[in-house]
Amino acid sequence: MKKPLIVYFSLSDNGSTSKVASFISDGVGGDLFRIVPKKDYSKDDNELLIETKKEYQDAARPELLSFLDDISNYDVIFFVYPLWWNTLPMPFFTFIDHYDFKDKKIVPFCTNQGGGIGFSARELRNVCSNAQVMSGYGINASEVEQERDNIIKWAIENLE
Ligand SMILES: Cc1cc2nc3c(=O)[nH]c(=O)nc-3n(C[C@H](O)[C@H](O)[C@H](O)COP(=O)(O)O)c2cc1C
Repeated sequence: MKKPLIVYFSLSDNGSTSKVASFISDGVGGDLFRIVPKKDYSKDDNELLIETKKEYQDAARPELLSFLDDISNYDVIFFVYPLWWNTLPMPFFTFIDHYDFKDKKIVPFCTNQGGGIGFSARELRNVCSNAQVMSGYGINASEVEQERDNIIKWAIENLE
């Protein structure tokens, strides 16, 4: 079986979303790619909310530091992200816009603070309309550690 790709975005190196990405990579192997925007988001919580809400309302596509050259070797791609404004953080959409996901299987995983997966899976079906987007898995950020085994089990099931 081909290696999967695990693409993730988190503002924090050791936040819940980065942990999920490393659990999945521990569990199923595969290559990890972190989406890093060129800009620095505000460290102030209130400013961050204002800034990201505007990005969301404007359907912004913040520039990224780098992209993967080629995703043609991957059939299964995990998208791992924190729920922002009930959807994916806008830098994720910059990444998505860069590629053609035709015939790829996209497996969404979302950390949140009670919003489940919001409408992120629906949004992914719109923007990756020629891919097979699986139903997403959402976990409260505070439960990520205790859910490690379940996350790995779910990731393995989605490889098939
Ligand atoms: C800008 C912003 C918007 C957010 N919007 C939502 C939301 O709509 N629903 C929700 O349940 N949590 C929301 N959250 C909470 C994050 O999803 C949660 O803190 C995230 O899982 C933390 O991931 P991290 O530890 O990798 O940063 C938001 C957080 C931020 C910073």
